[in-house]
Amino acid sequence: MTKAAPAPKANMGQPIPRYDAVAKVTGRAQYASDMPLRDPAYAFLVTSAIAKGRVDSFDLSEAQKVRGVVDIVTHENAERLEPAKFFSNGGYASTTNQPLRSSEIAEEGQIIAVVLADTYEAAREAAHRVKVSYTAATPTTSFHSAGTVAARAKGQLAMFEDDPKVGHFDKAFEEAEVKVSAEYETPPQHHNPMELFATSVAWNGDSLTIYEPSQFVYGLKNGVATQLGIDPDQVHVVNPYVGGAFGSKGSMTPRTAIMASISRRLRRPVKLVATRDQGFNVATYRAETRHRIELGARRDGKLTALRHEGWEISSRADAYCVGGTKTTTRLYDCPNVDSLVWIVRADRNTPGFMRSPPEVPYLFALESAMDELAYRLKMDPIELRRINDTMREPIGGKPYTSRSLMACFDEGAKAFGWAQRNRQPKAMSDGDWLIGYGCATTCYPTQVAPAAARVRLRRDGRVRVEIAGHEIGTGAYTVIAQAAAARLDVPVEKVTVLIGDSDLPPAPVAGGSNSTASTCSAVMMVCDQIKQRLFKALMPNESLSDKAKETVGVGQTPSSRAARSDQPLDREKAFDALGLSVIEEYGEWKPEGAPMDSFRAMHSGQVRMVGGPEFGDKIAYAFGADFVEVRVNRFTHEIRVPRVLGAFAAGHIMNPRTARSQLMGGLIWGVASALHEATELDERYARYVNDNLADYLVPVNADIPEVEVILLSEEDAQVNPAGIKGLGELGNVGTNAAVCNAIFHATGQRIRTLPVRLEKIEV
Ligand code: MOS
Repeated sequence: MTKAAPAPKANMGQPIPRYDAVAKVTGRAQYASDMPLRDPAYAFLVTSAIAKGRVDSFDLSEAQKVRGVVDIVTHENAERLEPAKFFSNGGYASTTNQPLRSSEIAEEGQIIAVVLADTYEAAREAAHRVKVSYTAATPTTSFHSAGTVAARAKGQLAMFEDDPKVGHFDKAFEEAEVKVSAEYETPPQHHNPMELFATSVAWNGDSLTIYEPSQFVYGLKNGVATQLGIDPDQVHVVNPYVGGAFGSKGSMTPRTAIMASISRRLRRPVKLVATRDQGFNVATYRAETRHRIELGARRDGKLTALRHEGWEISSRADAYCVGGTKTTTRLYDCPNVDSLVWIVRADRNTPGFMRSPPEVPYLFALESAMDELAYRLKMDPIELRRINDTMREPIGGKPYTSRSLMACFDEGAKAFGWAQRNRQPKAMSDGDWLIGYGCATTCYPTQVAPAAARVRLRRDGRVRVEIAGHEIGTGAYTVIAQAAAARLDVPVEKVTVLIGDSDLPPAPVAGGSNSTASTCSAVMMVCDQIKQRLFKALMPNESLSDKAKETVGVGQTPSSRAARSDQPLDREKAFDALGLSVIEEYGEWKPEGAPMDSFRAMHSGQVRMVGGPEFGDKIAYAFGADFVEVRVNRFTHEIRVPRVLGAFAAGHIMNPRTARSQLMGGLIWGVASALHEATELDERYARYVNDNLADYLVPVNADIPEVEVILLSEEDAQVNPAGIKGLGELGNVGTNAAVCNAIFHATGQRIRTLPVRLEKIEV
């Protein structure tokens, strides 16, 4: 075992290498824009230079002179596509601001024309020669700009049902012995996955094939079909690999149907690779947020009052918000809780999911405030969290299915050397460097959604699994192969996995950290169907009694499964008894508590996800504890992070290697969201300024010297049959607060607005 492949503890699978490792390092893995097309027209986008107003006219004469130009599509000649409904209102779209429908412009970077040419270079050259006359109005950019419209989130979108509250906050806060009241801000961020927003389309008669990096092939297939007015079965989405997504490739963006419609008209395949800077507008982003936190506590540290008010930017067209109060109001034991979320509309593109959408900004605020409270109480911040730890969330009184928060703090603290910390701010230093230790809670809802799978087992033990899951870099191929291998008692090398294709059985969006739990639960169930057939063949006279079920292991959790399989099934004998060489089974699995229409919805690209606070009479979350050491130079104010450590518990761990990799990436991103990342806005034009990877700061190796991930053993039989809590998003929650808490410890200065750059340090 190596650092990259930690030895499994109880209730963990093997840290086998990635299924797709060789394909990726040898360049064999094909991404959307690698897919060969026959004589494609290359598309290049022309995007709006203004954020609000209209196009008065185009002068295309210079553009049309470029050799190789095939067509230029604007709102004046574009096909009128069916409107795209917002994903949160039963549709598929990331935005309802559909370009090329009229001369109106509602966001900077909106697609206003598409140039098609025989080569990419010609398309790009012509696009730059398109002349546009605008009538521009003054846009509203962000919170502090004139013309914003704020309204309660409640009732504006299905994703955010209500503002959680319980008890009597006002009275309790007034009477509290110790109080914290503070405001926090987080900036806009863009996902910037390495793989750009590419779309290749090809028609074969009435059938459309789409090569596009997608976190949800069934959603894209159904969404594009709706916009084109064709049967979803005429649309085939293919993307075996996605080069990073982080939420930006979860919902349908306008570009896909536009490319399909142009291709249909040209009778020629079309290939688009939006540029890095165009990516800032053609997809979504994490919007900036503001928070007001009020905490009241007794002198012994017990929370008596907690209020979280949040403001989030959205577009004029769509009500989007992440509404993280659903988590922050339930995290700690507190009898009097209040919350309120506002959506603030500005002239921007519609924001969307970005890794741990609610928790990253909302836990930054709460976990910073908890640290402030700990100092006010002269109490260790871990002890404050221990005093307010609970197995029952305070809003509805529902029990957590499992919660290892304090175990994570204890193991993390030990490994980090937290005990060596002098609690006084500014008390630790090394030459010119002030040293600070900070910590914070991380948590992420455990979610799960219906999924289907087809599994084929051959007599010789070879297995083929088909499920329309998604490899966004997380290890989906690997863990699905492991699930099938374990369930069918074959070596994992014998398993072939097909994912990332809408012709395969439906699986949910690779979002909300539900994929491993959902796909593995479905695959396990279908493997059990195969085992039942084999079992019946060996014991024809025995009905599938309880004993048989016990042998097969239907519906059992991994821990009881481990106990059951002392005598593996004689596979070859069973095949011979059946007279077969191949068995194939298809099955549709849905989590407990998912609605009756789950399977119908699943086939039409609608996800009926359950979990987190909406998990029947329970509540399901994964937890962790983040520890950070910072060093702040007392003269230059340079901020370094020599050490980051996270301890996490997330139920059954399918593969400690891929799990660690996800959590490590999350921690690094957490540091980035504290110190580096922010999309800078030009207030005058509502324009993203640093829309390239040179100016959009992300950490490099030198910024992140040491990252340690500790996986705790945890069992949870209630979350799903696989016992899995997703962890793709767990790692980057709370890390931003841990960094700021460490900066306070080092410098005595509390910074409540991210990112923390050296000009903010005043010591
Ligand atoms: Mo994620 S932001 O749930 O893709």
